[in-house]
Amino acid sequence: MSTSPSLPEVVMPSCPVRQLLRGQKALVTGANSGIGKAVAIHMAQEGADVVINYVANDAGAEAMVEEIKAKGGNAIAIKADVSNEEQVQAMFRRMFDEFGTIDILVNNAGLQKDAPFEEMTLAQWNTVIGVNLTGQFLCAREAVKEFKRRGVVPEVSCAAGKIISMSSVHEVIPWAGHVNYAASKGGVMLMTKSIAQEVAPHRIRVNSVCPGAIRTPINMEAWSTPEAYAELMKLVPYKRIGEPVDIARAVVWLASDDADYVHGVSLFVDGGMTLYPGFETGG
Ligand code: BGC
Repeated sequence: MSTSPSLPEVVMPSCPVRQLLRGQKALVTGANSGIGKAVAIHMAQEGADVVINYVANDAGAEAMVEEIKAKGGNAIAIKADVSNEEQVQAMFRRMFDEFGTIDILVNNAGLQKDAPFEEMTLAQWNTVIGVNLTGQFLCAREAVKEFKRRGVVPEVSCAAGKIISMSSVHEVIPWAGHVNYAASKGGVMLMTKSIAQEVAPHRIRVNSVCPGAIRTPINMEAWSTPEAYAELMKLVPYKRIGEPVDIARAVVWLASDDADYVHGVSLFVDGGMTLYPGFETGG
């Protein structure tokens, strides 16, 4: 799929040789597809030992582990539904058994169950809030306990731990037909900032990344035909869809000591989607 009819493919600059996450232990939830997959692979390339959390497709998760190991990295796959307290706690215990501790949590697992508002079922509402918001709460709580118990290990990182919440442009942009999803991301925004305020004195850094339209299975309808792509571009001033690696790079930076004084922010990675593109000509 080409990016845009009129603009060239984006050529990403090559990365420096320094590994930004060397020696760190990272857990990425929902890591076997889309943004989570790119984040997990990029973190492993940057030297982190990575837990690939997933809920379906054992073979896909194991294939990722093999891919990371083949490139000299280290990873394990752990199956757990992030909206389930026991499964989350069991996942953290297993991570500590295998890797000893956690330095970075990427709260990425998320889904959509779209419906016109008056037709939205309680099940659709609860599933989205359960995974996107409660799931982030449950994982962040376990991570914070361990960060506090262990404290700063200066050879590993300046911080006692880092949490990156996967939010969305829809933490600020209302979204008709996706009320459950927008509510979950609005919740993620204030949950993340409130946790950040509470744990900062322990040198635990907590931030969000807010992707715009990224080429993943969750929004395939919005980019997989030329007509849909053209419509989508009306919402993106930068005139290209985002790629998972655009988000992975931002997450790695936020997790690294290069971002040590960045705390409690929502980092929008959206090609300008939050710039009210309708006002380019209107208003
Ligand atoms: C949603 C996508 C959507 C994008 C921009 C994301 O959070 O998951 O489906 O394309 O926001 O609207």
